[in-house]
Amino acid sequence: MAARLRLLLSAERSWRAQAAFAALLAAAGAPGCKGPGTPKPPELQRPVAGVVVAEQSLAVEVGQRVLEQGGNAADAAVATALMLAVVHPQAGNLGGGGFALWVPHVGEGEVVDFREVAPRRYQQDLYLDADGEVVARRSLETPLAVGVPGSPAGLHALWERHGSGSFSFAQLAAPAIQTARGGFTVGPYLAEDLASSGPGGRIAADPTARARFHRPDGGPLREGDLLVQEDLAQTLERLAAEGPDGFYGGRTAELLLQTLRTVDAREGLLAGDRLMDAADLAAYEATVRAPLTGWFRGFEVLSVPPPSSGGFVLLQVLSILDGLPLETERDEAGGPTARALHWWIEAMRLAFADRAEHLGDPEAFPDPEGQGAMRTLEVPLEALLGAEWIATRRLAIGERAQPGVAPWVPTPTPESPETTHLSVLDAEGNAVALTTTLNGTFGSGLLVEGAGFLLNNELDDFSIQAGTPNMFGLVGAEANQLYGGRRPLSSMTPTVVREGGQRVVLVLGAPGGPRIITSVLQVLLRVLVHGQPLEEAVAAPRVHQQWRPEGTALEAALPDGLRTALETTHGQPLRTGSAAGLIQAIAVDPTGQPTGASDPRSDGAVGVARGPKGR
Ligand code: DON
Repeated sequence: MAARLRLLLSAERSWRAQAAFAALLAAAGAPGCKGPGTPKPPELQRPVAGVVVAEQSLAVEVGQRVLEQGGNAADAAVATALMLAVVHPQAGNLGGGGFALWVPHVGEGEVVDFREVAPRRYQQDLYLDADGEVVARRSLETPLAVGVPGSPAGLHALWERHGSGSFSFAQLAAPAIQTARGGFTVGPYLAEDLASSGPGGRIAADPTARARFHRPDGGPLREGDLLVQEDLAQTLERLAAEGPDGFYGGRTAELLLQTLRTVDAREGLLAGDRLMDAADLAAYEATVRAPLTGWFRGFEVLSVPPPSSGGFVLLQVLSILDGLPLETERDEAGGPTARALHWWIEAMRLAFADRAEHLGDPEAFPDPEGQGAMRTLEVPLEALLGAEWIATRRLAIGERAQPGVAPWVPTPTPESPETTHLSVLDAEGNAVALTTTLNGTFGSGLLVEGAGFLLNNELDDFSIQAGTPNMFGLVGAEANQLYGGRRPLSSMTPTVVREGGQRVVLVLGAPGGPRIITSVLQVLLRVLVHGQPLEEAVAAPRVHQQWRPEGTALEAALPDGLRTALETTHGQPLRTGSAAGLIQAIAVDPTGQPTGASDPRSDGAVGVARGPKGR
């Protein structure tokens, strides 16, 4: 069985960058920022129970059972994610990708990057018409939208590297296989998402997806209908029996490529001989990276490095805010005042400006014009997270909004709608934060005929053209340009916060495109700065700012007084639009008591494990 895994732990530039950054801060004694200092001995205290939080209750039950039967957080996360591929087809997947952050109760954390990869012959001119204009649907619902899936390799790698050894991969896949074969009852959220994706939607447009998700007499499946997926059960069985080779090769690979060929023919051969092929599938590898780590108010914050922008934006915002007196800006209920919200928004604006200009896949890729030469688009994380730039950004925040802020410019001298999240903590204190996605709700809407899984439309996360927003309104630059073999820039932000060297205090993440980052940020601030209980912090109304567009989106529940003060006192331009991603989080108090919170904006559930690893 091929490894399908690339280790970038020691060579990881972002890791070196953050280590250098921490050393720089420690040496400079940067205000409000704490370096790692003398490592403390690992805390012996463990959580009193294991917890699983995810967006669908059947998947939570599977993860909970794995913990109760002696599995650890990695085992439970894999079983939960495989089950989500069956019962949460909007985002749970085999045909998509994501990031998993493993944080053991003793030792270093690790990121499994299973982001999709652009087929090697794709270039971004595929999305342009003869006049050089972007044809929006090409990167959303045609074969050109589909990146080589990463989830099968990534989930297998998470199990192989960090599973307890008590469960085989096939045992973890068994509940998903059984549910795909026996069927499950469609719940209200899936029914609602299916209803809103038709009749002109992507599911209705693809005959195979329509046959799967519509009733025989027409119209999307409704709440209470039974959804049976025998072909998906067989795909999962091949994966369970052979590991990733049973997905990236053999019958599943054949069926996937056949579907792409059929759809490409239907689309007038948009991809033609550049279409994803067996070599693209065979070449896929999950990549193991060191987490991107920073410090906020003495807490260690671990998150994901590029090709996600999530960890970077989160850490830049936290570093900027760490030097501001957030504790003095609390309203009577303990929440943030309008000035605190204004600071959050301005810090988000600044970090998203740098994201748009500088973030992208850090790995070398074949230069299409370079006769076998390799090319790298540098991500200048050291400069962007360095003390000097953080201080400059902090000083740039005044009393009024500054929509015109520009990203970092290198000097000639040094330095260059639908996802799902699950959080797991086991009773030993190991944590997994795992975010996975097809990108849009139900991805590209293309269902692999005979194999029963949906394909992603992740390639829309590349910056198609400077200044052209993607489906989340995000703009980008050359750093995130599509070349065959690259991974599109993500906003996924699976995050773990530790105290005292080892003790996990928060495990969290969300779907929501760029709102993932700002949602994780705000829950983290409400818990760590405002001392709000986790459930209150998750439910609290959110704000969202991503540099372009200039306006900030506010949730309707934000009190009118705060809305008015943001507009008038702080000159914040506002806009309509969603401001929140669906947080799935676990907090652990100093006595080891864990609390799970599934965002009340969604259908999720919290499972508390009682048993061997749940005590
Ligand atoms: O990786 C990303 O940032 C996006 N593809 C995530 C998409 C997403 O979160 C949609 N969910 N609502």
